[in-house]
Amino acid sequence: MNKTVLLLSILFCLIVTVSARLEMVAEICRHGSRVPQRDTFGTKYSNGLGMPTPSGLRQHYLLGIELRRRYMKGYPNVHQLVDPVFDLNEAHVRSTQTARTVQSVYSQLLGLFPVGIADELEPELADVAIPLIKLPNLDSVVDSLGSEAIKAGMQPVSVRNFHRDVDRFLAFGDCPYMSNDFIRRSEDPEVWKELDEQFRPIIFNQIAQAFGLNSNDLKFMNILDRLEALYTEEFEGKLTRFDFTEEEWKIVRSMQVPHLLNHLSPTSSQIMAIRHLNPIRELMRSRMGRDFNETLAGDFNNAKLLILSSHAYQMSHIINALAAENLELDHIDFASTLIFELHRKDSSGCETSTSESCFSVKIFYNDLQLKLPSCRNIDCTFKEFLRHLNNLDVTEDAMHELCFSEDLLTGYGEVTNLD
Ligand SMILES: *[C@@H]1O[C@H](CO)[C@@H](O)[C@H](O)[C@H]1NC(C)=O
Repeated sequence: MNKTVLLLSILFCLIVTVSARLEMVAEICRHGSRVPQRDTFGTKYSNGLGMPTPSGLRQHYLLGIELRRRYMKGYPNVHQLVDPVFDLNEAHVRSTQTARTVQSVYSQLLGLFPVGIADELEPELADVAIPLIKLPNLDSVVDSLGSEAIKAGMQPVSVRNFHRDVDRFLAFGDCPYMSNDFIRRSEDPEVWKELDEQFRPIIFNQIAQAFGLNSNDLKFMNILDRLEALYTEEFEGKLTRFDFTEEEWKIVRSMQVPHLLNHLSPTSSQIMAIRHLNPIRELMRSRMGRDFNETLAGDFNNAKLLILSSHAYQMSHIINALAAENLELDHIDFASTLIFELHRKDSSGCETSTSESCFSVKIFYNDLQLKLPSCRNIDCTFKEFLRHLNNLDVTEDAMHELCFSEDLLTGYGEVTNLD
């Protein structure tokens, strides 16, 4: 056997033995760079308010390319997890119902699912596969498509999304307690006093100058619009309103996560987190072949890849509940991603076992693998991961009771996806 062949066969064995191990991936990501949602404070962008910028779309496209390299069959990876042809039983994609998250994840999917391999159109169906309105240029369009169903053999992937008032998974549906908390806290100066006192002396003068204001005009409780404007301007190379020093910019950046977390009480914060984490846990059980809660994970069709397109707001609460020992999070960048991997252990007896002890969980925030306090090593055993979730103050049952312990406040501000 010559050297190349030997090397290739070793590589192949490695791929085959290691590839049996990854069972499931759940990704929660933040949208890419976008125009500020409510006000650009005079800065011009080619897109409308809240829309992703070209760089934001590029970020997600590249994220998709990397997920493809890591997890797709036929790519040079160790985890041959999902088929390159989109299959509803393998990949489940959800987004919050905002343009920037839907467009971001759509870009990510264009990077993830390769073009040119979708099923081709059978030639005899070319005359049938047409809409019911007349296309004056039908012939030239059909000619240029050839046997591709749609341009370049792209694969349209379904992205499901629901209005925030009904979405019980990615947003705030069916939990008046948490929504009311957001509404009350957003408008209560007492809740923001401490953070205001922390940041006012060190950065309010500079931020006020940037916007031509007096620092008394600024309040931490409603500074998010200005922070969003600054973060986007910095990312897009348009920050000309003030020349922050490196140290000052660090402070400006560090205001984001405290702001997002403080919209919810510690209890509501955990509710927000477990609304995401418990369904992911149940999908893991489903992938392991164990009993799982159909209400929480039944929608996912036992998917191997779950992609959730969301916001810095939700992510800040989820990451906070993970309480990783090796991450001090004060800012969630555009296109940040939180990835949960479920691995089957390599040891004998675990090849087909559904025993919890045969599985482990790896959690990554961008490129950093998180070390959870309940886990002895950086790779959590599945049982340790469960213990972490069980150790949170709010349980699934308590959450339901709390959520419906109040009626939804109306006529106040609205609950919204922040940042
Ligand atoms: C499944 O989850 C739902 C929603 O949280 C909960 O109401 C229900 O009690 C759970 N079912 C079981 C069998 O644990």
